Amino acid sequence: MSKLHFAAALSVAGLLTVVGCTANRHTAPPDPIAVTPEQGQVPDRTWLDQGWSQEVSENFWFTNQGSQIIPYSWFVWLEQADSTQLFRHSEHMESLRYLPSKASQKNPGGLPIGFAKHANQTTGENWVGMTCAACHTNQIDYKGTKILVDGAPTLANFVLFFDRLVAALNKTLNEEAKFERFARNVLGSNYNTSSKNDLKQRLQDIALQTAQRQVVNSLPDNYPKDFTSYARLDAFGNIQNAGTAFALNDLTNKNAPTGPVSYPFLWGTHQSDVVQWNASAPNTPIVGPLVRNIGEVVGVFGELEIKEAPFWQRVFGKHARYSSTVDMIGLGNLESWVKTLKSPQWPLEYFPAIDTEKAAQGALLYKQECASCHQVVPRDQEHLDYVANQTLISELGTDPVTANNASCHMAKTLFLEGTKERILIGSKFQAVDNASDIPVNRRCGLGIE
Ligand code: HEC
Ligand code: HEC
Repeated sequence: MSKLHFAAALSVAGLLTVVGCTANRHTAPPDPIAVTPEQGQVPDRTWLDQGWSQEVSENFWFTNQGSQIIPYSWFVWLEQADSTQLFRHSEHMESLRYLPSKASQKNPGGLPIGFAKHANQTTGENWVGMTCAACHTNQIDYKGTKILVDGAPTLANFVLFFDRLVAALNKTLNEEAKFERFARNVLGSNYNTSSKNDLKQRLQDIALQTAQRQVVNSLPDNYPKDFTSYARLDAFGNIQNAGTAFALNDLTNKNAPTGPVSYPFLWGTHQSDVVQWNASAPNTPIVGPLVRNIGEVVGVFGELEIKEAPFWQRVFGKHARYSSTVDMIGLGNLESWVKTLKSPQWPLEYFPAIDTEKAAQGALLYKQECASCHQVVPRDQEHLDYVANQTLISELGTDPVTANNASCHMAKTLFLEGTKERILIGSKFQAVDNASDIPVNRRCGLGIE
């Protein structure tokens, strides 16, 4: 309830300042990147009518919101750890269930859907990051036809992707011939002994940071290795750690992300009053999605800092102490596209005809057993707001770990101790407090910056 109040209170200020941010941002124009062809096969796909033009789809796939994994050109030229085949090669990416895509102006590195470039606001350097589409797009294969479904839950294995990335960076750093190939490609005509040494130093730094992230978000030894595997991820756990361990600068201040969940689909989410499986994120117009999505960005490689300072300086100071790589314009655009996305419909042109008898029985069963919680929104009303049904987890009987982690994980608050949890409202942070409130505090900070 308090979260709802907080978001409502922010709505006017947030609207103004988001626009303000846009005007004041000193972004270096991103340097144009030469289009480098994709590696391996990119399947021909068909689309369904989901209310998006192909252009909107492609914008959605390749607009970054401020997520930074490694420099863009590195990702274009990085080899896999145990092979000379490039990391981004279709075969490799498909084995992780990411969807290969053709190289284009929007996708100059020939990367899979959802791997988008982001020009760092401070340095102007291009980085690769994951945008919404990496996790919220999928493809259905039926008798040789590949149907792309925008906003559909991915089957990707984020943790395996990340383990492989750490291994590839490490191998490139430590194997001379591998590094030499990497350096020649990344540096191109700037290749010389000194630039090569600089690159190696930087690779060492970034490989270390990447490995730290892997360690902080790793599971205890008694968990099976593939506990967080294909098609599921503990997004909340990653977001909590981005707030407690990374933004507060103490890598021991972490909780294990032990509650992976299914990736949800995105159609209809903009219209719901709350989102997330545990209904924890209010969707108040404009600010709700932005605040929620900032959490999303920092959870998936957005960088965020909360500097030590009194709260008014953290928020209003000349050099506001909340800084992050979050791209407010990118985020705003992504959310405005999600708003217009429609659910896919059974594609009669590719799939077998519907058995009307079974469909009638199914509809009845659904009405009896499911519709009280999973309400049916007619397709022509998908643009209308609705109130989501919320069910107590004790009544539901599903695995409670994610919900418990979100409300019970604790973390040190370090220099936030004694400040208000929601900056201007809420109770003061104790020395050790609820871990979810730390990213919430941080997200408030960004929302009204
Ligand atoms: C690395 C993968 C990843 C990325 C990138 C990502 N998400 Fe998500 N998203 C998830 C997961 C996992 C959940 C489920 C979290 C939960 O409820 O515990 C989720 C939940 C959501 C929900 C709630 C849906 C519902 O039915 O309650 C929305 C809306 C959403 N994401 C939108 C976005 C948008 C918009 C972006 C880009 C700005 C984005 N996501 C980027 C993985 C991702
Ligand atoms: C009492 C409310 C309730 C009823 C009745 C109900 N569900 Fe659910 N269902 C939920 C909630 C809440 C979730 C998400 C939270 C969770 O998984 O713990 C969920 C999750 C699901 C998911 C998982 C979605 C995913 O991406 O992981 C499926 C599939 C599902 N329900 C199908 C059904 C079907 C089919 C029926 C009817 C036979 C049904 N549910 C009846 C409340 C309900």
